[in-house]
Amino acid sequence: MSAVAVKPLRLAVLISGRGSNLLTIARECQAGRLPADVVVVVSDQPDAAGLPAARALGIAAVSVAAADFRRDGRFDTPAFVAAMAQVIDPHQPDLVVLAGFMRVLSADFVARYAGRMVNIHPSLLPRHKGLHTHERALAAGDTEHGVSVHYVTAELDGGPVLLQARVPVLPGDDPASLSARVQQQEHILYPMVIDWIARGRLQCIDGQALLDGSPLREPLQLGPGAP
Ligand code: GAR
Repeated sequence: MSAVAVKPLRLAVLISGRGSNLLTIARECQAGRLPADVVVVVSDQPDAAGLPAARALGIAAVSVAAADFRRDGRFDTPAFVAAMAQVIDPHQPDLVVLAGFMRVLSADFVARYAGRMVNIHPSLLPRHKGLHTHERALAAGDTEHGVSVHYVTAELDGGPVLLQARVPVLPGDDPASLSARVQQQEHILYPMVIDWIARGRLQCIDGQALLDGSPLREPLQLGPGAP
């Protein structure tokens, strides 16, 4: 049986920092293991380490500095998201990938990329939405922690969860050790979800995730049972 050619999915990746997820995804694309191309990287932080690292891989990487949108002590979200869209849209992305983008986006921006935007969040959603998830998992005495990839909707960290990976919380863990364990899983999980989207297996229609055409009622779990 001959392999079916898949048109590479055009990815715009949004980052705020190191960009280890971005770099993992970009390397998988460039190695031909993921039918996708990172066509642009955008950061709200001009000094994000992921920007020069992306350029070193030959990828367009642009900063839209959040600091430039603070006016009279207030953050001008409409102007900021308009500037982001102006950078992103000429690259005609099929999918916007939030990879450690640490800024809440407006409902307008989310609507612009409805069904075409995914996020990775370092917790087992719906547990620990928001920031400092590793600290909060430890403070809560969780014995299990992990990571989720979800479609983005207007509700913060609230869109349909697609895939999760679980890790144990071990005696003596601190936020750094727990974060490192979670990140190992992130680098497996995110390319996997993007691969399913590129192959048309995963879709988001009217806020509902579909896997192979059927509603995804519960998040998939990384492991032997994964499709
Ligand atoms: C990742 O752990 C990601 O899950 C988290 O930021 C980190 C970015 O790492 N995202 C969030 O907390 C979003 N709320 P990276 O820059 O090395 O990919």
